Amino acid sequence: MCGIMGYIGDRQALPMLLDGLRRLEYRGYDSAGVAVVRNGRIDLRKASGKLSRLEQVVKVAPVAGSVGLGHTRWATHGDPTDRNAHPHADCTGRVVVIHNGIIENYLALKEELLAAGHRFQSDTDTEVLAHLIEAEYRGDLEGAVRRAVSRAHGAYAIAVLCADEPDKIVAVRYISPLIVGLGSGEMWMASDIPALLPYTRHVIVIEDGEMAVITRDSVRLSSVDGRPVERPIMHVTWDAEAAEKGGYAHFMLKEIHEQPRALQETMMGRLDEGRVVLDGIRFPPGFVETLDKIWVVACGTAYHAGLVGRWFLEHLARIPTEPDLASELRYRDALLAGNALAMAISQSGETVDTLTAMRDLKKRGARVLAITNVLGSTVTREADDVLYIRAGPEIAVASTKAYLTMLAAEVMLAVDMGMRRGTLDQARARGLVAGLHALPGRAQEVLNREPEVVDLARRYASASDVFFIGRGLDYSVAMEGSLKLKEISYVHSEALAAGELKHGTLALIESGVPVFALVTQRHVKEKMLSNIQEVKARGGLVIALAYEDDEETARQAHHVLPIPRVDDLLAPILAIIPLQLFAYHVARERGHDIDQPRNLAKSVTVE
Ligand code: F6R
Repeated sequence: MCGIMGYIGDRQALPMLLDGLRRLEYRGYDSAGVAVVRNGRIDLRKASGKLSRLEQVVKVAPVAGSVGLGHTRWATHGDPTDRNAHPHADCTGRVVVIHNGIIENYLALKEELLAAGHRFQSDTDTEVLAHLIEAEYRGDLEGAVRRAVSRAHGAYAIAVLCADEPDKIVAVRYISPLIVGLGSGEMWMASDIPALLPYTRHVIVIEDGEMAVITRDSVRLSSVDGRPVERPIMHVTWDAEAAEKGGYAHFMLKEIHEQPRALQETMMGRLDEGRVVLDGIRFPPGFVETLDKIWVVACGTAYHAGLVGRWFLEHLARIPTEPDLASELRYRDALLAGNALAMAISQSGETVDTLTAMRDLKKRGARVLAITNVLGSTVTREADDVLYIRAGPEIAVASTKAYLTMLAAEVMLAVDMGMRRGTLDQARARGLVAGLHALPGRAQEVLNREPEVVDLARRYASASDVFFIGRGLDYSVAMEGSLKLKEISYVHSEALAAGELKHGTLALIESGVPVFALVTQRHVKEKMLSNIQEVKARGGLVIALAYEDDEETARQAHHVLPIPRVDDLLAPILAIIPLQLFAYHVARERGHDIDQPRNLAKSVTVE
């Protein structure tokens, strides 16, 4: 996620651009830049690293002017270097563009533009937009931007400045967020409301497929194909803290609700006509085809993601996969033989147990793949390959959107590996890719049913024990659901393998105990229904988590939390959402500090 800020008015743009970028830093950053137009030319300043580096650069070489754009970047295409920082200019330096999102067809566009004689200065996908606009410019910036974006596929919020039309900013949105702030004789634009709050509380939210032409005195909206659009002005009443939380009461709830968008970002540019194309991974030729084993090392929620990943990798790519708690593997005399891949999963990329286990496996000859969220983190510097989950910054201690996007990344990896190894046929791959494409919408449907989870949380908020049962993939999801509840609500909870109940744990079930039964895996459904009967016979209150069309399971449970029907393999990505919401609302009922639960820290950098 990148951050965008723009200003047009009579004041100096630079201080406001920097201030807005600082407020957008929570979206992630590896470099930043500004462009200001004055006296018929555009001045650019860029710097890799934190915003303070850009501040030093503009201290030495200031830029003056009252129309400008600013950008903080979180790299997707091209390393986080000065020259890859935004804004990006065309060949003449008279058009500059900032962009949040991904242009999926940038390579084809770049080849075409290079053949037409355009000279590129960066490795980014964004720069193609500047050159496309240059190629389309015939004295009308608005028309040139329209024609340029009609050629780009992907997701974007872009803003464009042109030295020949210095009194306007042209902005377009498709998927990535964009907001215009209104003043008197001045206007702002940004990726998010917090950046605008010191300046105005009157905003217009640009919707998908819309263009805004912003001058000092007006904002004109239209669809990208030129039809006029009317949109009421919104008045923001949030204070600055609430605004950072997007109006939600806690970061955790905001992050739970961000999951459809986070999933979209994870998959953006990586799914192609029944195929998966993973950037950042360059396995040597023949490596995947001859892999003997994958070791997954991770902690906590990331370890739970690894347990689900094992299913994907063993089932789709037929590679023996062993998830291990990093803190355990380190002290176990594990046998490492043959051609092995160590998969280190870590949201922060800084968890010391995961890093140490990963180093150990690397020393013993394994190639290392990191699955992580944080660009430039230690795990990314030490791994051979990196698969970014692109969840955006996760601030609540309890991990939610990182887990969901780790699962999506793992499915894509398993599909890619299965195709290479010939263990996955084209039709099944196509089905899974189509299922992945539909997931953000399905996840939103699950979120829309939050009121049902709130009712359930109120009913069971005072329970002293809560159990989660499941088989196969459902058991792995049960472990994550149970951890969420424990860490923020402090309710004692355990995930039990449903098949193990009769071997001991059934003794824990007594009258009135809430038991979540996860029933999404067709091949063990009958067995799960028997387990539900075992629990009910001991007085347990069963909350089934099942597909919405599964009436049989619904009939046997006391309550049902339904999810839309998807391929069973993808069900964990939806099934965890009601459990995250349940944990959140129980913790809220109990009055806990949800974003910072007692005794826990976001990043565990000590052993
Ligand atoms: C649970 C949680 C922790 C982390 C664990 C690993 O909600 O957040 O269990 O998952 O500390 O952290 P990362 O993924 O940063 O290595």
